[in-house]
Amino acid sequence: MAFQATRSLLIFLIFLSPLLSSVFVAGQSDCRITLNSALTARSNSPPWLSPSGEFAFGFRSPSGNKDLFLLSIWFNKVPELTIVWSKNDHPVEEGSKIQLTSAGEFVLYDSRGHEIWKARTGSQRSTCAAMLDSGNFVLMNGDSSNYIWESFDMPTDTFLPGQRLSMEGNLTSRQSESNYSDGRFQLRMQRDGNLVLYGIFLPTESVSGAYWASETDLANPPDTQLVFDEAGFIYLERGNKNILNVTKRPLGSRREFYYFARIDFDGAFRHYSRSRRNNAVDTGRGSSAWSVVQTTPEDMCAAVLKDLGSGACGYNSYCVNMDGTPNCFCPDGYSPLDPLNPHRGCRPNFELPSCQENGWESNVELVEFKELNNTDWPFTDYELQTGPEIDKERCKEFCLRDCFCAAAIYNGNNCWKKRFPLSNGRQSRDVNRIALLKVPKDSVTSTCPKAKDRSTTLL
Ligand SMILES: *[C@@H]1O[C@H](CO)[C@@H](O)[C@H](O)[C@H]1NC(C)=O
Ligand SMILES: *[C@@H]1O[C@H](CO)[C@@H](O)[C@H](O)[C@H]1NC(C)=O
Ligand SMILES: *[C@@H]1O[C@H](CO)[C@@H](O)[C@H](O)[C@H]1NC(C)=O
Ligand SMILES: *[C@@H]1O[C@H](CO)[C@@H](O)[C@H](O)[C@H]1NC(C)=O
Repeated sequence: MAFQATRSLLIFLIFLSPLLSSVFVAGQSDCRITLNSALTARSNSPPWLSPSGEFAFGFRSPSGNKDLFLLSIWFNKVPELTIVWSKNDHPVEEGSKIQLTSAGEFVLYDSRGHEIWKARTGSQRSTCAAMLDSGNFVLMNGDSSNYIWESFDMPTDTFLPGQRLSMEGNLTSRQSESNYSDGRFQLRMQRDGNLVLYGIFLPTESVSGAYWASETDLANPPDTQLVFDEAGFIYLERGNKNILNVTKRPLGSRREFYYFARIDFDGAFRHYSRSRRNNAVDTGRGSSAWSVVQTTPEDMCAAVLKDLGSGACGYNSYCVNMDGTPNCFCPDGYSPLDPLNPHRGCRPNFELPSCQENGWESNVELVEFKELNNTDWPFTDYELQTGPEIDKERCKEFCLRDCFCAAAIYNGNNCWKKRFPLSNGRQSRDVNRIALLKVPKDSVTSTCPKAKDRSTTLL
């Protein structure tokens, strides 16, 4: 009988698609990383692979700085580096090491052998570790159904099929496409059962404001989790019931597609898919073969409008939504703070108006206004002039005659004076306002380095 049962189980397993194996927890046989195993951070050092080879665990240097490595998990069979988990708070130098020690502790050492991080496993010690086909890296203690530590419980910015986000769990965006340090947006599965996207202020993670919420909060909710199921759908589950679909479109089968979701550095929570067949390396710009199934929220520029914080883009820049991607631009007379990252905001190419005696802003001959149609920087106004007799030229005049004024916003009969830094800038056809930016004449061409006013975003 026992033999029969084993045999039918074996046949069952043989006929099962390897793609479905992530449905199952790891067996002892998957637990291939034994005590004293170690990986060293250097280019081309072979990682630990999952049984199917789909995911890898090891060191990568995604930042362009080849001397800095991140302990990471990535999709190993797609040509574009797609990191799904990393110890992003501990970039390490070449020669650093991750080791499952003989004592059963999982420790990251720097290049001089000092311990800089250790997986928290309470009083338990692991007997082995495994990179699973789901993308989950786990530490086990004998009993294979009981993980004493797993990367799925410590997510960074990415969410994978088979993973759950429990109450008080969160995902944090990174700084930019290539900088994996924590950025300024967070997805939180709250204790009240609400799933919320927040702008945050580092380093304290204080909230600058919510820009999307599932609105599923209750006074005393039963256990609520964000679920990424094996079929690739994302939804909110409460007491075993699907209460809200985050994924709203039909999907292709996981036999044909890879899926992941991520709170991106621009703050949008995106669900991505990619054909398993397309393994050609694209050489063109924006070379990723990952495509977006869904973006939440669909217009970041309009969603992130808060009196605290810079908005979807950085300070002094304005945001234009293009197919769900917030693009950030600097106005004339301003340049990107970081030429490689338009999301970090813009600095003026001139000295700020400060009402000094010989300041350019005090000499009307030296001042001009740059106009931007359908553009607004709400919230930083300090004075409002209103009335039907106010036209655009009078609005400029108000700002011109006020040496504190940085810019004015005009909408037909209101003229708002603005102070620095400008925030929450947005340009869209539905914004019926004209922005009037006060700059010194020729600030763009002569007195200052040339402004790069229209930078393009990555991705
Ligand atoms: C986010 O989750 C991390 C652990 O994954 C935790 O350390 C941190 O306190 C959480 N932050 C918030 C605001 O919940
Ligand atoms: C990423 O950004 C942070 C904060 O701006 C900075 O301290 C860090 O050096 C950057 N990391 C890399 C690898 O450039
Ligand atoms: C979520 O989507 C599935 C499949 O389209 C549907 O059957 C289900 O009723 C939806 N759930 C909710 C709560 O809308
Ligand atoms: C702004 O809009 C007005 C009226 O539609 C148009 O005449 C003007 O050329 C526009 N200015 C710019 C800078 O696009």
